[in-house]
Amino acid sequence: MEARAIVVTRRLPGVPFDALASRFRAGDPPPDGTMAREELLRRARGASGILCTLPDRVDGDLMNAAGSALEVISIFAVGVNNIDVAEATRRGIRVCNTPDVLTDATADLGFALLLAAARKLPEAERHIREGRWTGWDPWGFLGVPVAGKTLGIVGMGKIGAAVARRSRGFSMRVLYNGRRRLPPATEAELGAAFRDLDALLAESDFVVLCVPLNPETRGLISRERLARMRRTAVLVNISRGEVVAEEALAEALAEGRIFGAGIDVYEKEPRVHPALLAAKSTALSPHIGSATRDAREAMGRLAAENLVAVLEGREPPCPVN
Ligand code: GLV
Repeated sequence: MEARAIVVTRRLPGVPFDALASRFRAGDPPPDGTMAREELLRRARGASGILCTLPDRVDGDLMNAAGSALEVISIFAVGVNNIDVAEATRRGIRVCNTPDVLTDATADLGFALLLAAARKLPEAERHIREGRWTGWDPWGFLGVPVAGKTLGIVGMGKIGAAVARRSRGFSMRVLYNGRRRLPPATEAELGAAFRDLDALLAESDFVVLCVPLNPETRGLISRERLARMRRTAVLVNISRGEVVAEEALAEALAEGRIFGAGIDVYEKEPRVHPALLAAKSTALSPHIGSATRDAREAMGRLAAENLVAVLEGREPPCPVN
């Protein structure tokens, strides 16, 4: 019997490509970068599995192109917003992702952005690298304090909880908002108190966004909600750019209506709003939440395990549907 076909849309850390290619018909992924949409549509024809990542769009058209053989869509990412999961479920196609293994890496980056924005680290670094430093300046780069301040976590899933745990070292008071309230024992373990979103925004010195992108969270941090934040507050986004009204955030930063921001994800990646590039007290990173070698290799192994498990008729380690 001919081996079944799979598509791996790009070279990915930790994905044992040779082992997969020895069991399945898997054409080589592009030497670098993502697979163009046209090529993906063509290569998906007759495939039983697709191992994809961001920003591949896995929609009904791609599922149609693959045809009835398609059993599994395994994404190298925790966020599945670029996959039409409802459509896959309707067709009986399993969708799997790579949670857990990137939780610490992503929470670390969230905290790094929080600290960097609070202490104007990117501006200070530019100053020194550009040779503009003339000596110790009692008035230079005045930031906002972190220790003892209030941290508002929007989306208290695994990553949100990991951010909360990190904040203990800074003696922070933790508020959270999410789709549902956590059990009292979990609230106690995290030292976190539930607030509705508007109250959380008004009370927090630091707001960290950890929600998945879905129809309920798209545009969640709107212009009106940004207006509820404190003038001294910092907004950190490690979820998806589309959760925040980027234009309104850029304006709030430019007009000094909030102190700063730490941003890893953008509305139209890789485009970054020019006003964000110019914003003060703002730390920007290019969507690197899970970017440690350990996390990325674990993600690759897990994405491959998910794919193979479904194709072998086993329950995958990380099913989404
Ligand atoms: C990256 O953003 C991911 O969802 O894993």
